[in-house]
Amino acid sequence: MKRIENYDLSSHNTFRMKASCALYIEYDTVAELMELDWKNLPAPVMHIGAGSNLLFTGDYPGTVLHSNVKYIKYVDMGLDDVLMTVGAGVTFDDFVAKACDAGLWGAENLSLIPGEVGAAAVQNIGAYGVEAKDIIAGVVCLDTRDWSKTVFKTPECGYGYRDSMFKHEKGRYIITSVLFRLTRKFSPKLDYGGVRKALEGLDEKALTPAIVRGAIIDIRRAKLPDPDEVGSAGSFFKNPVMPREQFEKIVAQEQPKEIPHFDLPDGTVKVPAAWMIDTLGFKGARSGGAQVYEKQPLVIVNASGEATAQDVLDLENQIINSVKQRFGVELHPEVEHI
Ligand code: EPU
Repeated sequence: MKRIENYDLSSHNTFRMKASCALYIEYDTVAELMELDWKNLPAPVMHIGAGSNLLFTGDYPGTVLHSNVKYIKYVDMGLDDVLMTVGAGVTFDDFVAKACDAGLWGAENLSLIPGEVGAAAVQNIGAYGVEAKDIIAGVVCLDTRDWSKTVFKTPECGYGYRDSMFKHEKGRYIITSVLFRLTRKFSPKLDYGGVRKALEGLDEKALTPAIVRGAIIDIRRAKLPDPDEVGSAGSFFKNPVMPREQFEKIVAQEQPKEIPHFDLPDGTVKVPAAWMIDTLGFKGARSGGAQVYEKQPLVIVNASGEATAQDVLDLENQIINSVKQRFGVELHPEVEHI
């Protein structure tokens, strides 16, 4: 177990914001977590993953916990299904790579998403037509109220678009491992824009999870900043979902432009925030060291490496206000502000 006071969190947030916490604890086993002297930890206590969806807006006065519980176990369910039990501290993409190498379908579209397995189950990460909830069979937690082990089945996790019950029950549950259900049955998901095109020329029937993973990695590398080169927290905003009437208003206002959109089963419409931000001319816009990423304007990057949280918040507010003015839509950050 690592236990460090006045700890610098720069290497624990992919935005690379300078911030520190009063105490940082990284535990290697769930037993270590349970043995902590909770009453005497500097408050408040928060749990982080890889910090790939966080914006620290200042120093954190309390304790930051981080899981170093890293194991991946396979449980063969017979027939086609395989369960993988994965420790919360495993890098999500390491799990995806293992699943793909084993020829298992389900996780390949989630390739190269930054972050760790525990946080992926909190955030219901998603990309290219697949969300974590589609492959999660259960989430194993410690309930900090009575330190009991609780296993939530997927329907009990309250999953929605980048949302879950764990986000609303802040601090109550610590996810210790996640159960994923994957399959040997041929089941590529290629319908999200760009995926089928990236595989053009290949015999669709001969695809493997590893081949699809390769294509997804290529798409992401072309559009999204490499976290090793430039700091960011991926998509900064959620894509807004609106009633059809509101969408029609925007269509009438913006014609003859075609507006990219996805009709959702409940009759509402999801419009890419990237399109709105792009239409408003924000690509490349800067505030201090922060910048709207040129290739994907849903992402704000720490372009100078020295951006302050205020630089990021300034861009965030400019974008929210301009989108509201032009489209009458309120954007909400996807990135959690601490
Ligand atoms: N678009 C533009 N201009 C641009 C870029 C995009 O108009 O410069 C429009 C295009 O119409 C494009 C649409 O926006 O078709 C959607 O773009 P993209 O496919 O890149 O996806 P997104 O909706 O912007 C979401 C996720 C990403 C995920 C991609 C792919 C959210 C908040 N973001 O972005 O997730 O990788 O889909 O599935 O839902 C993340 O959460 O950090 C993240 C990167």
